Amino acid sequence: MRVAVTGTPGVGKTSSSSLVRSVKVVHVNDIVDDCGAVVGFDERRKTKEVDVKKLGKAVSKMDGDMLLEGHFAHLLGVDVAIVLRCSPKVLGERLASKGWSPAKVRENVEAEAVDVILVEAVENAPAVCEIDTTGKTPEQVAASIEEIIAGEIEKYPVGNVDWSKEVLDWF
Ligand SMILES: Nc1ncnc2c1ncn2[C@@H]1O[C@H](COP(=O)(O)OP(=O)(O)OP(=O)(O)O)[C@@H](O)[C@H]1O
Ligand SMILES: [Mg+2]
Repeated sequence: MRVAVTGTPGVGKTSSSSLVRSVKVVHVNDIVDDCGAVVGFDERRKTKEVDVKKLGKAVSKMDGDMLLEGHFAHLLGVDVAIVLRCSPKVLGERLASKGWSPAKVRENVEAEAVDVILVEAVENAPAVCEIDTTGKTPEQVAASIEEIIAGEIEKYPVGNVDWSKEVLDWF
């Protein structure tokens, strides 16, 4: 089985996936260069521009079960996409305290608030789960990922996370 761990930048994909032991973990950021999938550099965002189709082709040629971790992972032909979620307020505080620029913090807080990655995952993956990581340690999040890999998909259905109340409080 192929599983994606995806989510808004900074939500904790790398920290929690690195603690998963039941399946090989592939950090998508580590393979984009070797796949020849980097097509440019976004100066404003300070991130690589990636040809996701090319990346998906390269991943489809890799053998075996794996957990693919990264914010494109849900676009790479997986069986299940696990979307990590974090309260926009908590995510913003966390990213600001790590020294991310105000513009980058705001972009990610907004993306999390309006479910950007969740919507993409639902449109592209055959099964989707959501884990609310707010107030959880990477170890606790990894334990939830392990539950989903073991088949407990129904425990984390789409819609179990909802930031609408928090977002309405902004107005
Ligand atoms: N559950 C958590 N609670 C508190 N802080 C966390 C948690 N998970 C990760 N962090 C911290 O938040 C920051 C971002 O975590 P991480 O790099 O794992 O996120 P990411 O989703 O992989 O981000 P990116 O998309 O940029 O690769 C790190 O500084 C990390 O230490
Ligand atoms: Mg990461």
